[in-house]
Amino acid sequence: MPSAETSPLLNSNGNHHDPESSCDADPKKRGIVWGALTALFAAALVLIFGFHDEFANTFGPLLGLVPTDPALAALFILDRAPYHLDLPILVRGLYRNNVSAVDLAHTMPAHVDIPRLRKGKVGGFFWSTYVQCPNPKLTGEDFLNATWRVRDTLEQIDVSKLLIEKYPETFKLALSAADIQSAIGSGKIASLLGVEGSETLLPCCANTTPLAFDMSPSTHTCHNAFADSCGFEPGIIPLHHGLSPLGYTLVEEMNRLGVLVDLSHTSDKTAKDALKHSKAPVIWSHSSARAVHNVPRNGENQTDAVVMVNFAPFFVATPGNATVAAVADHVDHIASVAGKAHVGIGSDYDGIGDVPVGLEDVSTYPALIAELYRRGWNKYELGGLTGGNLLRILHKAEEVSHKLRATGALPRYDIYEKRTDL
Ligand SMILES: *[C@@H]1O[C@H](CO)[C@@H](O)[C@H](O)[C@H]1NC(C)=O
Ligand SMILES: *[C@@H]1O[C@H](CO)[C@@H](O)[C@H](O)[C@H]1NC(C)=O
Ligand SMILES: *[C@@H]1O[C@H](CO)[C@@H](O)[C@H](O)[C@H]1NC(C)=O
Ligand SMILES: *[C@@H]1O[C@H](CO)[C@@H](O)[C@H](O)[C@H]1NC(C)=O
Repeated sequence: MPSAETSPLLNSNGNHHDPESSCDADPKKRGIVWGALTALFAAALVLIFGFHDEFANTFGPLLGLVPTDPALAALFILDRAPYHLDLPILVRGLYRNNVSAVDLAHTMPAHVDIPRLRKGKVGGFFWSTYVQCPNPKLTGEDFLNATWRVRDTLEQIDVSKLLIEKYPETFKLALSAADIQSAIGSGKIASLLGVEGSETLLPCCANTTPLAFDMSPSTHTCHNAFADSCGFEPGIIPLHHGLSPLGYTLVEEMNRLGVLVDLSHTSDKTAKDALKHSKAPVIWSHSSARAVHNVPRNGENQTDAVVMVNFAPFFVATPGNATVAAVADHVDHIASVAGKAHVGIGSDYDGIGDVPVGLEDVSTYPALIAELYRRGWNKYELGGLTGGNLLRILHKAEEVSHKLRATGALPRYDIYEKRTDL
């Protein structure tokens, strides 16, 4: 049983039950109880500090003290953290969306299965629905022609929901910050849905996907009618020079719906436009720091947001140099520029082919936490990194949504200017 202190996800909505507040008000009785507790505490301190680290590692956690060994400290602190995982695309690729054939209870190909999620102390993740960029030859330059992208996205959402339902003792669908806290509180892995690429909405309206945490307009590696993408390699030619007029509308509609704006795949200009325009904080669900390794997918520093660091070796370091320490460098850099409250862990497991040395799959997250602990991150900062920061953003986005609705913000009915059928 984790101490409540180590679980920022459980604490932040004030659910924390303080035993003192329900205590008998009789001052004498309280004095005796306190005396006994103080004596016990003092005895424990003597035991812990009077003996070796090994002793502290074993018994310290019982008193809420972080073990001195970074590896043990990581397991202690890393209670339940959310990430960004591409499991649904693996189910599509390897199992033709046949959820019956997927056995998450045992070793799966690639990076994710239940035993490894549990070993890595994963508290939740965005079930990321990824589909490939449409061929511009098929969509046409104006993105008007229908492609398989919407169908495939709906299939990916379906696969996610079916897998979540298949393992009800492990996963729980989470559509709000409160859902996440309740899932984690009941020992389940909070399952958030995230769509990669707002072009999956096209050429329709922004309001057809009632998902909690869509990743739109996370234009994947291609532009769409809403926004410019950052591409994969430098040099992609911009189309709208940031958000298109419809993109601005989409941001407003997402704010109204309480859907998080994810900027991981956007161009710098799109990100800047969205940051300026969004009334709610935004996230980069799986990006790293360009100052540490200069690729377009890595975000520039901005103000109120969380950047969730990606582990793809290509984004992390020069070939052969992607290690736990290199990933920790990205975390440290974002923290030094934006503050520790603005970093999270994205990882992108099952969405990346190669992995850093020491971070091979979802069971290895504690290695990163241990490395950061060694570098001086304390348990509160690590609690933020591994969930608290993202949860804060979600709460704020929900507040914005409530406020907008309460003040009469209406759904947007804007029509893409290139449409001729409406
Ligand atoms: C789906 O997988 C199950 C279990 O492996 C198998 O029995 C079934 O035939 C598969 N269905 C299809 C349509 O492939
Ligand atoms: C898009 O659809 C229209 C109408 O069906 C068709 O005439 C046009 O050739 C299509 N464009 C592309 C690029 O496929
Ligand atoms: C990033 O932070 C540095 C230092 O605070 C600042 O000079 C720079 O303008 C920031 N970049 C962006 C894109 O905000
Ligand atoms: C690490 O990167 C350097 C240059 O950036 C390169 O020379 C070296 O070979 C790389 N290390 C490994 C283990 O590949």
